[in-house]
Amino acid sequence: MHEGVITLGIETSCDETAAAVVRQGREILSSVVASQIEVHRKYGGVVPEIASRRHVEAILPVIDAALLQAGLALDDIDAVAVTYGPGLVGALLVGLSAAKGISYALGKPLVCVNHIEGHICANFLAHPDLDPPMLCLTVSGGHTELIAMRDHGCYEALGRTRDDAAGEAFDKVARVMGLPYPGGPALEQLAKSGDADLISFPRAEVEDSPLDFSFSGLKTAVINYIHSAEQRGEKISYPDVAAGFQKAAIDELVTRVHRAAASTGMKTIAVSGGVAANQALRKALTALALEDGFKVHYPPLSLCTDNAAMIASAGYFRYAAGEVSPLSANAEPGAALTSLQHCSGQVAAGGYTGRL
Ligand code: KG4
Ligand code: ZN
Repeated sequence: MHEGVITLGIETSCDETAAAVVRQGREILSSVVASQIEVHRKYGGVVPEIASRRHVEAILPVIDAALLQAGLALDDIDAVAVTYGPGLVGALLVGLSAAKGISYALGKPLVCVNHIEGHICANFLAHPDLDPPMLCLTVSGGHTELIAMRDHGCYEALGRTRDDAAGEAFDKVARVMGLPYPGGPALEQLAKSGDADLISFPRAEVEDSPLDFSFSGLKTAVINYIHSAEQRGEKISYPDVAAGFQKAAIDELVTRVHRAAASTGMKTIAVSGGVAANQALRKALTALALEDGFKVHYPPLSLCTDNAAMIASAGYFRYAAGEVSPLSANAEPGAALTSLQHCSGQVAAGGYTGRL
């Protein structure tokens, strides 16, 4: 017999096969992540077909390992939470099919979770006393989102990227510099020995949308800088390029958080997603928080990048609010983050309907 609501989380949206067991949406009983990074590295990015095949091989052993580490059996689980999108459709289907199988065979409720909501909820695992309202900055390889979370499961989109995601820009710039995939951590490392003020790259503004992001101009500017220098036969200081790029990207993120905090009056910020692992970003946001008088939260590094504990947490909050998903639920590669039914009165007209 166990206490509290136990959710099994399953995540296979990209290149991590993950399963986790979480109590009450807050306490991690186990979290297992089988990363495919090594497999995809030689191609310089995720190959969807290979990702799906690897997920098929790993999914059942990973779920077994998560249960074993938690000291629980499938029967002890109260609900199965699974990422249904956004992500790679073939990859998503593996996790979703496994979750549906468990749900159907054992009669356990299925809760479909949006991957972005999972990233946001990573903060609830790391900070037991954290609750909305809060401003959420989610920055990963596929997403750059600024969201006002009014209550658990109640979202209002404030801004998003118009082109590349922040992590995608890190990855592409890193690739041009010959760094291994995923480029973010390698670029951050290289930037440490560079001078961020030596090369000034552009900071984008999206016309009439001060909370939206755009990283493709910055990415192109860095690539052009490198190519022009190469053509002129000039020696390139890659650490300085990395530091200049990183500073420009972080400036763009920080200005949006500053504007959103001012316009919403929200005093709590929760940062999440793979790029939230970046120490320079954390430093810049912590400095802004001090200046602007808000509190900023980050998950530990292990919960910034893809994992299933965050999905189990998000699933808990949906389940606790009475939401369960039908077994006919399908993978949605472009799934939009949706609020819970009861939020409709609180979410600004239009809510969150855009593709991620
Ligand atoms: O959240 P995540 O694991 O997967 C997605 O949902 O996309 O994020 C992966 C992304 C990659 O683009 C990776 O380069 C980036 O997060 N990333 C970083 C750092 N660590 C991971 N970017 C900048 N600095 C880092 N330290
Ligand atoms: Zn992610």
